Amino acid sequence: MNVGGNLYQKFGIMGDYFRDRGNITNANLGRYNVTKDEADRFVFRVPSLRNVALTSPYFHNGSVKTLEEAIGVMAKYQLGRSLCDKDTLLIAQFLGTLTGEHPELN
Ligand code: HEM
Repeated sequence: MNVGGNLYQKFGIMGDYFRDRGNITNANLGRYNVTKDEADRFVFRVPSLRNVALTSPYFHNGSVKTLEEAIGVMAKYQLGRSLCDKDTLLIAQFLGTLTGEHPELN
């Protein structure tokens, strides 16, 4: 129902996102900050993608402004894929269909 939001995963499975991006802060250590377990370094809750088109900026630190950019990062670092603009747009449009009515906004 939530399209995600029910597990933890490492951010940077198919590439080292944080090294490539640089400027690593304490917040980027993710679950490690809570458990102090090395295996939890760079591990984050996979957020629910329900209503994701409404919830920019993205990622744990709000570092990415657009959904298209977040999709590109996910494809590269979580799946090891490079998406063309058309596929990125189609995925963004799909994610847009996950927008529902928010009880507090109605
Ligand atoms: C095409 C496939 C995927 C798409 C379109 C996608 C999309 C997204 C988006 C839009 C976000 C940001 C959500 C927000 O900040 O509210 C996100 C975050 C995240 N995704 Fe993905 N994702 C994909 C694949 C994956 C895979 C395969 C994994 C894990 C193996 C994964 C793990 C995560 C994690 C851990 C975060 C949180 C990162 C953070 O908070 O810094 N994603 N994803």
